[in-house]
Amino acid sequence: MAILLFFLLFFPYLFLPSNAQMPGFVSIDCGAKEKYRDDLGLEWIPDNQFPYGETATTSAASGNQKQYMTLRYFPADNRKYCYILNVMSRTRYLVRATFLYGNFDSSNVYPKFDISLGATHWSTIVISDANTTEVIELIFLALSPTISVCLSNATTGQPFISTLELRQFNGSVYYTDFETKFFMSVSARINFGAESDDPIRYPDDPFDRIWESDSLKRANYLVDVASGTTKVSTIRPINVDKNERPPNKVMQTAVVGRNGTLTYRLNLDGFPGFGWARSYFAEIEDLSSNETRKFRLRLPGMPEYSRDSVNVQENAQGRYRLYEPGYDNISLPFVLSFAFIKSSDSSRGPILNAMEINKYLQINSGSQDATQMGSLTSSYPLADWAQEGGDPCLPVPWSWVHCNLDMQPRVTSITLSGKNLTGNIPSELTKLTGLIELWLAGNSLTGPIPDFTGCTNLKIIHLENNRLTGVLPQSLANLQNLRELYVQNNLLSGTVPRGLLNDNLVLNYSGNLNLHHESSGKKRIKIIIFSVVGASVLFLATAAYFLFMCRRKKAHYKEEKKTNAPPTQKLGSFLIDATVESAHCFGLSEIEDATANFEKRIGSGGYGVVYYGKLKDGKEIAVKVLSTNSFQGKREFSNEVSLLSRIHHRNLVAFLGHCEEKGRNILVYEFMHNGTLKEHLYGPLAHERTISWINRLEIAEDAAKGIEYLHTGCVPTVIHRDLKSSNILLDMHMRAKVSDFGLSKLAVEGSSHVSSIVRGTVGYLDPEYYVSQQLTDKSDVYSFGVILLELISGREAISNESFGTNYRNIVPWAKSHVESGNIQGIIDPLLHTDFDIQSVWKITEKAMMCVQPYGRMRPSISEVLKEIQEAILIERGGSELGEGNSDTISRTSAHSPINVGSREFPEAEPFVSFDDPIAVPIAR
Ligand SMILES: *[C@@H]1O[C@H](CO)[C@@H](O)[C@H](O)[C@H]1NC(C)=O
Ligand SMILES: *[C@@H]1O[C@H](CO)[C@@H](O)[C@H](O)[C@H]1NC(C)=O
Repeated sequence: MAILLFFLLFFPYLFLPSNAQMPGFVSIDCGAKEKYRDDLGLEWIPDNQFPYGETATTSAASGNQKQYMTLRYFPADNRKYCYILNVMSRTRYLVRATFLYGNFDSSNVYPKFDISLGATHWSTIVISDANTTEVIELIFLALSPTISVCLSNATTGQPFISTLELRQFNGSVYYTDFETKFFMSVSARINFGAESDDPIRYPDDPFDRIWESDSLKRANYLVDVASGTTKVSTIRPINVDKNERPPNKVMQTAVVGRNGTLTYRLNLDGFPGFGWARSYFAEIEDLSSNETRKFRLRLPGMPEYSRDSVNVQENAQGRYRLYEPGYDNISLPFVLSFAFIKSSDSSRGPILNAMEINKYLQINSGSQDATQMGSLTSSYPLADWAQEGGDPCLPVPWSWVHCNLDMQPRVTSITLSGKNLTGNIPSELTKLTGLIELWLAGNSLTGPIPDFTGCTNLKIIHLENNRLTGVLPQSLANLQNLRELYVQNNLLSGTVPRGLLNDNLVLNYSGNLNLHHESSGKKRIKIIIFSVVGASVLFLATAAYFLFMCRRKKAHYKEEKKTNAPPTQKLGSFLIDATVESAHCFGLSEIEDATANFEKRIGSGGYGVVYYGKLKDGKEIAVKVLSTNSFQGKREFSNEVSLLSRIHHRNLVAFLGHCEEKGRNILVYEFMHNGTLKEHLYGPLAHERTISWINRLEIAEDAAKGIEYLHTGCVPTVIHRDLKSSNILLDMHMRAKVSDFGLSKLAVEGSSHVSSIVRGTVGYLDPEYYVSQQLTDKSDVYSFGVILLELISGREAISNESFGTNYRNIVPWAKSHVESGNIQGIIDPLLHTDFDIQSVWKITEKAMMCVQPYGRMRPSISEVLKEIQEAILIERGGSELGEGNSDTISRTSAHSPINVGSREFPEAEPFVSFDDPIAVPIAR
């Protein structure tokens, strides 16, 4: 019977998992056709009754679990798509969503979209590799009988989901004082001393938490391990006291610091921020009676956390028993370095069995009209439009709703015309106090028109073509803002209230046999006709245009939402927008005038010479005169021009037009005042005015955004092929744009590489491309990695002098330094100490990933961009978040070449003070 309470509901469809493994387990295999039980004993159910989206199979490498072979994907539109799950109110759950892209759409466009739980933004899913499964988890206290997990806001690709899992906890281990205001997003759940790379989960963990193995190697995850770190294990059961503690199998393994310390460094996704953290200890070694194991936690710059010492056996009251100290609210950085250090009076070094770190995610209380809207939709359990789920406004509104932009939005417009509504006009509508437009035309609504006095902002009301009865209420005349009222073709009776007959109001009440004007005679009816003729023609034209184009900016849609324009207008403006895009054709004389006959040469590249120019209207331009042999024929030139004219992004140098006259092929671009990044990094300019680290990060961010757009925003994908620091141009404000698409060729749609003659610049050239001649977007990623190394080091990609006698090329040079842990050795001396070492580390590690020998080992540009943005946050946010101290340590260490392994815990650091009563540890 209890099981029935935990069913999953895709309203109005109902799923009852058969004799499920655990009460409160729901495992949805998105895109699957039927239910099945997997090797772990988990019962997977398909989502084949789900009314939205399409299913697809992935081309993931074999050996994957069945649930990752299929997925469900959704259109990249303005809507959200929500799975609605039934839960028990006042109960804690873990919800897990997984995403394995597997190139399901054969486009190799890595999707990026948002996922939310109800109105709360949960995470932005950024796919950076077709065969890696992204897993996100959230722990929450259910406060209502259903939850909605919604996908929306695709900026690249299409939103999709592989699995959705719900696990119910039956106790209070994840209780916090904040649980009605904050979700906990899982950042790390680590099993130390693990015997294999495989995680431990169900059935070992009855709640199917996934305990990651500490031997699994990932970038910047569990690195900087102290020497003397040894794995230990036992087969004796551990008394974990309550069953929501880490399972036995997790507690039976541990690491111990034979030399007195355990150190680790790991990236915490979602941080910096406030979080919940627990360490789990159990004594699983045989200590003789005179031996002790006492140690303290050390977090760089946070001495308050070292106050209390751990004595596992004493704290746990015996061996093979769990001791679980932790913090309910601790501020943590993105790159967490921690150590457990033996006390001087202890005979043994520290031990660590497991650890959990969650980030607090503030719950968005949602739109103000959520209750009314929920009540409204629950009255129409069979209607499609009422099943969209989630919050009516957040993160994006239901398809038939518009909302204002308040933090807690209100519904401003409802469009339910022609939806077969029956019965009375729902009374909930009269309680939407922010309502401006109400469209209910063409339904079968009956009964009287209710009192809309509470909706003082109402401007437009459409009730025509229904079966409404009764009178036109006097109260409508009290709506000061009412401009249009349509009630024609109903069964209304009585007389039209005097207040509704004025020049400010468009009123149509024709077709109501018993409804009369007071002084019947002249009628004052204005009829507005919305023409939709031609809309389909416009649509076809637009569609044709889309055969090749780059994704329009999101902002475009946002504007539409705000203006609530009727559909015809939307299409119209879209088309106008599109036609403007055909390339502008300059006359040769115009160009000659602008450049004063090609007087001022500002650069040259493999494809021609660039001149400065100024148009009649004062606009400054860069004029690129292509050398005659650059383009074999007219045809290639015009292809290139038509491509260029369709690529618009704020981080790509704007193409203004072209000129083909007297055998000259000329391209006109916007002029970039601060020249190339190259000049600023190691030209004479570099010493004059050094670019700061934060500015370098911003330049990297700008450039990555431009490249991301080429890779993922354009169909087919555009590969730059010749990225280098001299192709990154800087504007007046030192913000960057990527230039020179002279080498760009369209990648062939549907295939992941384009074979052609190897072109590019020595030092930036992807070695794999050079050998195989197979060009992919990862070739650009390689070149971008080289640019990142230039930004860090201020050195040229290739040089006979810069890299000592052993190297000529920046990549092996940087690699040798990073591998020996000497990051200081590659940092540009001109940066002095004006940076946070954590952000430099982040970028260096990502750069090293970018220059991996094989494309498949390199991240996507989107992933690199994300990393740069996180580094910028670290650089900007360090002091704000009270990480000032760790900052200081990094900066100090930047003075001297300290090895990575020890840099977070320099020997000279004075030991922590124990007087500071800021943090209160919680031990259970
Ligand atoms: C944690 O502590 C900080 C600072 O004292 C406070 O702002 C925050 O609201 C607390 N709780 C959570 C869940 O972040
Ligand atoms: C309204 O109902 C009619 C008849 O039941 C049906 O044919 C039509 O598809 C429905 N329209 C909508 C929008 O649901």
